[in-house]
Amino acid sequence: MKTKIAVLVSGGGTNLQALIDAQGKTLLSGEIVLVVSNNPGAYALERAKKAGIETAVVTKKEWGSQAAFEAKLKEILTDHGIQLIILAGFMTILSAEFTSCYPRRILNIHPSLIPSFCGEGFYGLRVHQAALAYGVKVTGATVHFVNEIPDGGEIIAQKAVYIQPGDTPEILQRRVMEQAEWVLLPQAAEQVSAELCGAGV
Ligand code: GRF
Repeated sequence: MKTKIAVLVSGGGTNLQALIDAQGKTLLSGEIVLVVSNNPGAYALERAKKAGIETAVVTKKEWGSQAAFEAKLKEILTDHGIQLIILAGFMTILSAEFTSCYPRRILNIHPSLIPSFCGEGFYGLRVHQAALAYGVKVTGATVHFVNEIPDGGEIIAQKAVYIQPGDTPEILQRRVMEQAEWVLLPQAAEQVSAELCGAGV
């Protein structure tokens, strides 16, 4: 049986696309059966629909509180028999109550080499702005398990990317995506989903 995967998104969904492409090339032994967005306008939803993947939208605005939002999310994930959750640009911090329900079953991609430039407040372009402001010469991306500490779960894989003269946050963000995120996330998803398959989960 293939591991049933849900991908949680909020934005453009290029990392989701990398996962869909990997699945198309049969590089993913799991199957993406659901894409959930907390943003009804996320282009990631279009990518999912084009790939024939079921979508759902769950917003905090609609559910009123973090607890109610997470309860709805859990209900949808349970209804679909989800075994592995991948956060691919999901712009919401999940509570300990939620993450503790899925130990080593939630992956996240972060656009830096953790423990640098990570944790609360480090998202989107801010991560790359901080890396350039510090003056590091190497940055990259990290895939990690998600626990109650933002960007604090066990590291699964990392890939380095060199900073180049003249880099802006936007240029660096694009290079980190192309050279690291879109390669690393499908590989890590495959590693974990194959492990779950092997363990008969
Ligand atoms: C990526 O940089 C990812 O590392 C971060 O959010 C961004 C999402 O981009 N967590 P996309 O929606 O996958 O294009």
